[in-house]
Amino acid sequence: MSITTDQLQNVIGQASGSQPCKLVIFGAGGDLTRRLLLPSLYDLAVADALPADFQVIAVDRPEQTGTEWAARLFGLAEQDARDPSAEFSCPHLDRDVWDKVTAQALYLPGDFTRPDIFAALATTLGNSNVIFYMAVASRFFAQIASGLGQAGLLKEDGCFRRIVVEKPFGHDLTSARELDEQLRTQAQESQIYRIDHFLGKEANQGIMIARFSNVLFEPIWRREYIDHVQITASETIGVEQRGAFYERTGALRDMVPNHLFVLLSLIAMEPPASLAAEAVRQEKTRLLQAIRPITPDDYVSGQYADGVLNGTKVPGYRNEPGVASDSQTETYASMRLFIDNWRWGGVPFYLRTGKRLSGRRTEISIVFKKPPYALFNQDMNDPRIGNVIRFLLDPVRGVSINFDAKQPGLEEAIAPVRSTFLYDDFFKKEPNVGYEALLHDCMAGNQMLFQSAETIEASWAAIDQIVDPAKSPCLYPAGSQGPDEADALLARDGRRWLPVT
Ligand code: BG6
Repeated sequence: MSITTDQLQNVIGQASGSQPCKLVIFGAGGDLTRRLLLPSLYDLAVADALPADFQVIAVDRPEQTGTEWAARLFGLAEQDARDPSAEFSCPHLDRDVWDKVTAQALYLPGDFTRPDIFAALATTLGNSNVIFYMAVASRFFAQIASGLGQAGLLKEDGCFRRIVVEKPFGHDLTSARELDEQLRTQAQESQIYRIDHFLGKEANQGIMIARFSNVLFEPIWRREYIDHVQITASETIGVEQRGAFYERTGALRDMVPNHLFVLLSLIAMEPPASLAAEAVRQEKTRLLQAIRPITPDDYVSGQYADGVLNGTKVPGYRNEPGVASDSQTETYASMRLFIDNWRWGGVPFYLRTGKRLSGRRTEISIVFKKPPYALFNQDMNDPRIGNVIRFLLDPVRGVSINFDAKQPGLEEAIAPVRSTFLYDDFFKKEPNVGYEALLHDCMAGNQMLFQSAETIEASWAAIDQIVDPAKSPCLYPAGSQGPDEADALLARDGRRWLPVT
């Protein structure tokens, strides 16, 4: 991860400007805190972008002191820092910088399902600006908000009080609305920061800049020129130790209404009137509200069976820990959808996500229509012919453009070529954890990178109706590109998925 001050300031814009604040982390001993929150705070400290008088107040069940908590997390960070596959891979972890994050840390042992922890927080916090970060299972969100509200901790009397809610925000439209109502009985919308970490990723943020800061793209970003759009979030990992959670959730709910729809809205929204949070969030919501109801025929679910990945045999989903031997939970979801507005009328968007696929890739491909006639006698059915703009989002980050060039030689022969811009080559930047901009913006009170309640409702509304409980997920071997039925979804339209490489 190692990131320099200049680099991070490029990512997050002006680093200064945040008022002093404290960060209360519920779930301070958990995985999210270790893997993402503290490393991101470390990066902010490297960039000198932490607010003045910054203090972490860690809340979790085990009895320990702040020093013990911080020392344990430093030990884990040292392990992660040496592991190139960890989000926080940082060859030169600097103890002095780490201390800036945790030296003042206070640890409150306790159970956030009981009121005494909130009373203790009230005594500790006084009249400070505070961000309450819920790094806990989603079933505790409403309970924590209610504890905070009842203890008067969400009153903004000359200070700010913000709550950060992780995903999943509900498991369908009804539960998302219920959670929202519960939060809003305690806090104003302006105090609620709903995180989707796909909004914090640098390359994803780059989509809006590519679209709305270049005259090159926007005029052709419409149905007259675009044949279809593909959005892919393909993973090689299985469900790992999350079998119990995944059994209740499945790929569709875990990835589509949040992460894939974040990408969909960034790639397809109208230009916002300004970068004010409300202007941007409204355009995203409008886009998602324009999704035509998706029919079960336009949806394919899959589940990985035994297979081979990178030369190693891996078990099927039903043999993973915490998973039922006859599970019907999907680990793959793909769909075709349409956006009923003037820009996109009739253009299919194909979305897919899955675990244990052949490659790890998040990307969006804009596939353009073929030229109106074959001046060069090119075979218009050759899938290599034609223009594709690919937004490479993770782990490779950049933009590539496919176009046709002249094959050198005496004949007028055509060769499909690709030109690629890669962030890491151009900016010589190591990736960061992805939460830095989110934490920074929350400290600065900017909700642009956070989901509004309306966006979340529109997302759930779009996917709630598509599941046909009578249909079982189609099996696909681990290490493959997904079920054949997903290929058929495009083949019936005369199209094909671009390969995941
Ligand atoms: C999480 C999902 O929200 O996103 C996981 O719960 C998924 O199942 C992860 O693996 C993907 O995020 P990333 O950043 O690893 O692509």
